[in-house]
Amino acid sequence: MERDPAIAAIVMEALRQSCEVFYLTDADGAILYVNPAFERLTGYSGGEVLGKTARVLKSGSHSPEFYREMWATIKAGRIWRGRLVNRRKDGTVYVDEQRICPIKDETGAVRYFFSIRHDITREMQLEDQLNQSQKMESLGLLAGQISHDFNNLLTIIIGSMDLVSEELPPGGVGAKLASEILRSSRESANLIKQLMVFARRQESRPVEIPLNEPLKELKVLLDSLLGHNVSVAYSLAEDISKTRIEPEQFKQAVMNLATNARDAMNGNGAIMIRTFEAGPEGLPAGVPPGRYCAFELSDTGPGIPPEILPRIFEPFFTTKPKGKGTGLGLSSVYGIVSQNGGRVIAANRDGGGAVFTILFPAITRA
Ligand SMILES: Nc1ncnc2c1ncn2[C@@H]1O[C@H](COP(=O)(O)OP(=O)(O)O)[C@@H](O)[C@H]1O
Ligand SMILES: [Mg+2]
Repeated sequence: MERDPAIAAIVMEALRQSCEVFYLTDADGAILYVNPAFERLTGYSGGEVLGKTARVLKSGSHSPEFYREMWATIKAGRIWRGRLVNRRKDGTVYVDEQRICPIKDETGAVRYFFSIRHDITREMQLEDQLNQSQKMESLGLLAGQISHDFNNLLTIIIGSMDLVSEELPPGGVGAKLASEILRSSRESANLIKQLMVFARRQESRPVEIPLNEPLKELKVLLDSLLGHNVSVAYSLAEDISKTRIEPEQFKQAVMNLATNARDAMNGNGAIMIRTFEAGPEGLPAGVPPGRYCAFELSDTGPGIPPEILPRIFEPFFTTKPKGKGTGLGLSSVYGIVSQNGGRVIAANRDGGGAVFTILFPAITRA
């Protein structure tokens, strides 16, 4: 049946129209044929890769042993299955799930290889996102329980110490120690309050407003917080839909982001604040389809090192020296945004610098 030229032509046409990426190489791995799905995925035309090996797609993410094991498997006439991180012509990286199969001749010698693969970048992103939100969820439960109990205990300590210090003769050693205890306890209470924000244990009184409103109210405070050498540019979409948020909490989140931007830029640089509407298309992975009011704050700092990106929203995660950072700024942002039904996403701009995007569901009236 396979020798039937009509069927062979249909098989060729099937490969041509397939949404799965297919390519054929000789026994040395030189590419003989790629289908249009390959061209769409990688950005390379058939003409550009013919005669070359799949090494053109190498991203540098895998070790030489990884490729040696792959070659050893297929050279031995076995099928290789696995995930490969590859690079498109435009330099962007994607994840491929693929099989490479040997084609043998009558004598059993491997003559060709073919590979079927599909892009699983989006699935991987969703998986990461799910792991990430599960991690934040369990941290939130833990933080919620601890902060609640601690807060109650601290309330008792502070209340009792207040009474004790009233009983002590002023100016004496006892009074001095008592005020020291009170100061530390209040500081602890302050830390615990921030942890409660992360755990969404604080009260929230959301109202329907456009995001621009609290931002305009914040302008003066933000300028004085950031100092003369940090400029803030605004680009606010005037006709933006309303959203349901607690304005004071949202302002707190913006201040935390701005403070971090200032720190990252060592007090010298520019912050851009933008509002706009987003969706239903082109939303980040894991964000349910819909229409969103978006807030974006970007800076001209060095950006966030990719290896710490998955951890920055964890409570107490900080790269700052002791006494400078608490690691509670972004966890508070996370808590505030989630409590108000939104999402916060951290990334780096192409030209360097960090960008934080917050999405709140837009109130649309049909
Ligand atoms: N705009 C930014 N640019 C670069 N890194 C940032 C930025 N914002 C936050 N980070 C990183 O995230 C970490 C956690 O931030 P945060 O939770 O506010 O804690 P803290 O500011 O106390 O360190 C920071 O220590 C820093 O490493
Ligand atoms: Mg901070």
